Amino acid sequence: MDGIQHNRYRYIETHRISGALGAEISGVNLGQPIDDAVLAEIRAALLENLVIFFRDQDMTPGLLLAFARRWGEIHRHPFIVGMPDYPDVLELVKRPTDKRNFGGDWHTDQMFAPEPALGTMLWARQVPDAGGDTMFSNQYLAYDALSDGMKRMLGGVRGVCVGDKKKGGASRLSHNAATIASMTTIEPPKGLQTTSPHPLVRTHPETGRKSLYIGGHVHWLEDMTEEESKPLIQYLHQHSTQPAFTCRFRWQQGSLAFWDNRCTQHFAINDYPAETRIMHRVTIRGDRPF
Ligand code: SIN
Repeated sequence: MDGIQHNRYRYIETHRISGALGAEISGVNLGQPIDDAVLAEIRAALLENLVIFFRDQDMTPGLLLAFARRWGEIHRHPFIVGMPDYPDVLELVKRPTDKRNFGGDWHTDQMFAPEPALGTMLWARQVPDAGGDTMFSNQYLAYDALSDGMKRMLGGVRGVCVGDKKKGGASRLSHNAATIASMTTIEPPKGLQTTSPHPLVRTHPETGRKSLYIGGHVHWLEDMTEEESKPLIQYLHQHSTQPAFTCRFRWQQGSLAFWDNRCTQHFAINDYPAETRIMHRVTIRGDRPF
């Protein structure tokens, strides 16, 4: 087996990178206009593989935005300032002087918003010689692996998801309490909701499959005390990110990843203290989880 999913697609070729999720896609130049038939195959590949990767893409912030807009409205980050001419594009920069990285724990993006991000696109402008990989975890598998009793119990429970500008909009249970790498944070616009309850088990609006919906933004469980919430949240964090549910992507300059936040978590590994990593990131608005 060479891992290529032969004959499933007409215009693209997909090559899975792990048993759990993730596929590299070849045959597409994202810098060119993409016609609807190719886009439909990319959409199918995303739904099938949960996270897809393209190599050697010569992107600009404008091209990245144009590709993201084919999926819907952009979800602008409320705490982090975007690029000067492209406020909807974040430049994630980590230099040797920065201790922390952005996204350095398991999470799913903008979960604190009432309508969290459907998906995220991340393009690599500069990457370390080694290190700076990103891990992803399949939350359908995490849900399916729970016992029937646990599935029943979680059915009606909502996690309260909190955003926090000091933590780069990626607020966490206990660790990572310092400020974010070389990025400017701001107060979110007045009235913008940055704490939202969401079901711990959600149904994907396109595939109809159930997945766990947990990540670093979940601070407590609705209508429960902290003492009651904490052990269950910790168990679900641990359960949902076990190695058999994950893949790990090795970046090269020009790689682009596109992940579905509705059924995955991800983790940016901070293992390149002496090097610089620069990424461009756009998030697409999703719907209210149910
Ligand atoms: C993120 O969490 O959105 C960033 C992931 C990464 O930089 O690898």
